Amino acid sequence: MGTTLITGGTVVSATGRGAADILVDGERIVALLEPGTTVLGANLAETVDTVVDATGKYVIPGGIDAHTHMSMPFGGTTASDDFESGTRAAAWGGTTTIIDFAVQKFGERVQDSLDTWHKMASGQCAIDYSFHQIIGDVNDESLTALRRLPDEGITSFKLFMAYPGVFYSDDAQILRAMQIGANTGLLTMMHAENGPAIDVLVEQLLAEGKTDPYYHGIARAWQLEEEATHRAIMLADLTGAPLYVVHVSAKQAVAQLAAARDRGRNVFGETCPQYLYLSLEDNLGAPGFEGAKWVCSTPLRSRREEHQAQVWQALRTNDLQMVSTDHCPFCMKGQKDMGIGDFSKIPNGVGTVEHRMDLMYQGVVEGRITLERWVEITSTTPARMFGLYGRKGVLAPGADADIVVYDPDGHTSIGLGKTHHMNMDHSAWEGYEIDGRVDTVLSRGKVVVADGEYRGRKGDGQFVRRDPCQYLI
Ligand code: URP
Ligand code: ZN
Ligand code: ZN
Ligand code: ZN
Repeated sequence: MGTTLITGGTVVSATGRGAADILVDGERIVALLEPGTTVLGANLAETVDTVVDATGKYVIPGGIDAHTHMSMPFGGTTASDDFESGTRAAAWGGTTTIIDFAVQKFGERVQDSLDTWHKMASGQCAIDYSFHQIIGDVNDESLTALRRLPDEGITSFKLFMAYPGVFYSDDAQILRAMQIGANTGLLTMMHAENGPAIDVLVEQLLAEGKTDPYYHGIARAWQLEEEATHRAIMLADLTGAPLYVVHVSAKQAVAQLAAARDRGRNVFGETCPQYLYLSLEDNLGAPGFEGAKWVCSTPLRSRREEHQAQVWQALRTNDLQMVSTDHCPFCMKGQKDMGIGDFSKIPNGVGTVEHRMDLMYQGVVEGRITLERWVEITSTTPARMFGLYGRKGVLAPGADADIVVYDPDGHTSIGLGKTHHMNMDHSAWEGYEIDGRVDTVLSRGKVVVADGEYRGRKGDGQFVRRDPCQYLI
């Protein structure tokens, strides 16, 4: 691997930007230097093994996607990206770390589920990875296992207020798990939708013959996201557990988070690109069965109710702190099509892991967020939120050399047969044109993407143990 100098670029961090060269030795950054620095009279560029010319480009810390589901079992099928294909696609898109979810199913031991996820990922990944633990069955065994997760390098777990009979936890179970979260340094992540109420609406809609993908969005009404978000906040308040609400889409849920934060609480939220760009009417409501491509939960919200503008604004005001993808891809053929004639049988999820950095860069192009905020919500805050900061999320001496050279003058056409390396037979982002392009990607010092080529190998990526959340108030 040797030494690498990334030269001529504008280094962008969460707090500022400036011209600097970055010197990498092996897997780590060793120095940020004034451009053109000489050492004992020699030009540094002549002494290193590899020079990456970043002239006219931004140099940023590699993206951290803190919410992915490679090979996730869901609705009788399995997410179509495994750790190999999914992390390779992530690398193409400038993401150098993912945090995936190990799934404890009902009746399963937590440690067994974690072992299964380690087996699935080990030796397969293109980039570094870690896990959150899904607790799909809160009981004495899983609560005991929860306390031991930090010893495994895992410092966050997810509970579901949705999906009764699958992953669902009732309020009593949530309360118990949060009590542990409050005194073990574990961050409680919450899927905040009122599942039992949703199931009633699903049954009623289907009985009325309303079977199209569009009705997935009607059944999962914003009131049920707002209510669950509020309930989760109150239970967190009572127990003292820090809370992180995943895939926030409704403006009313954002308002709940903002109010809790204004009371000084350790309450955080992520959103996903689909909630910033796509809508109930334009996507879920597409003709025929096409809307199935965008069936995910929480659902895409109504364009008419202007949720998107509020979610963008919350990203600016830090009422939402970061953007993950909730990458959970399913093919139309053989997977999504299980729900033809019954939207409730469409496996939930959208595939975006390759496009997050580009899609969020559009927020910079369109004047919605600053360049620095782009870095913050896609890399620095994910690192701090999930105990990776210092090694990841920052370009500084001692940090892993996870580095992306991003070309603001480049262009990216998203879609099948264009930019798309995910294992899907369609793209949820077909036709999106991005002003900007991922130019070069280094993962722990190794150039894995350059000159439009993938140069990494499966197994390059390693499991990363995480510290507790570094973002608490
Ligand atoms: O639709 C989604 N979000 N699928 C993945 C599972 C989850 O709830 O995150
Ligand atoms: Zn979820
Ligand atoms: Zn506020
Ligand atoms: Zn998810």
